[in-house]
Amino acid sequence: MNPTRRDFLSSLSLLGAAGLAGPLLSASEAAAKPAPKGGLRIAHLTDIHMCDRPAAFEGMAKVLAAVKASGAVAVMNTGDSFMELNGRTLAEAESHWAAWRKAFAGFDIPVHSCLGNHDVWTPPKGDVANHQGHLGLAQEGKAGALTLLGMPAPYYAVRIGKWRFLMCDSMGGRRYSFGEQQLAWIESQLSELGDGEHAALCCHVPIQSPGAWMYMVNHQPAEKWGFPYGDLQRDLKEITQLLRRFPRARAVLTGHVHYVDQVDYLGVRHLNSGAVSGNWWKGVLDNDFPPAFGLVDFHLDGTVERQMVSPI
Ligand SMILES: [Fe+2]
Repeated sequence: MNPTRRDFLSSLSLLGAAGLAGPLLSASEAAAKPAPKGGLRIAHLTDIHMCDRPAAFEGMAKVLAAVKASGAVAVMNTGDSFMELNGRTLAEAESHWAAWRKAFAGFDIPVHSCLGNHDVWTPPKGDVANHQGHLGLAQEGKAGALTLLGMPAPYYAVRIGKWRFLMCDSMGGRRYSFGEQQLAWIESQLSELGDGEHAALCCHVPIQSPGAWMYMVNHQPAEKWGFPYGDLQRDLKEITQLLRRFPRARAVLTGHVHYVDQVDYLGVRHLNSGAVSGNWWKGVLDNDFPPAFGLVDFHLDGTVERQMVSPI
């Protein structure tokens, strides 16, 4: 039997209840949600995978309109902003970059980004010479990605009200890890939190995430994987121990696997907020995960609550 649109939509709303860690809000429901008193509302966008396709432009227009209507004061973008930049021609890379600029033109809420594993452009192997002289490889490597995304450094802090957001680089060390230097920086940031100040860490690759291992076993037999390689931070033990030492490190915002989950572990709420692109702009991923973003309320007392929103 061919499913009708009504069947499809009703299955989506069921999935919203069962699959997305709470109800899936429409744009108008998100806009009607009262803002946290004295706290902050942030839009957590991840895995946008922007590209020059009608579905991506239409989807992003709806998402950014929903973010504006929601009363969010900033966007935390946890990476994979571009469809794919690893080993791609300059023409493909330029097309993704132009699509990103076009999608965000006129959007006036601050966007703070992390690097994802698809965001740093490298030319196809053996094709480097063809690109020299065109842009002088000015956009290649992390420096180019930082310029395109308006980032001051691969990792940096953003302070808004009584919250300090540590925007981290999941590719700071060996795949995927922060590396010693970045861990030391996180420790110094957490050590200097002021009175009543709380911290949230944002990065691309999850640190604690049942979605990560479900993604792995849904795509390959379990014995093929050398867990947690590829879909969790390799240094999850060190990061978890570090956060545990600082009770005011309250939340972690991540993406990468395009699945939605929420884990409370040792006093930290880990929020993996799916993907704005869902199944890379081809609808619902693995039956459960439609395009969506997280609307996250950071309260004065340090508690954090998220609801997923799907305006597409
Ligand atoms: Fe992604």
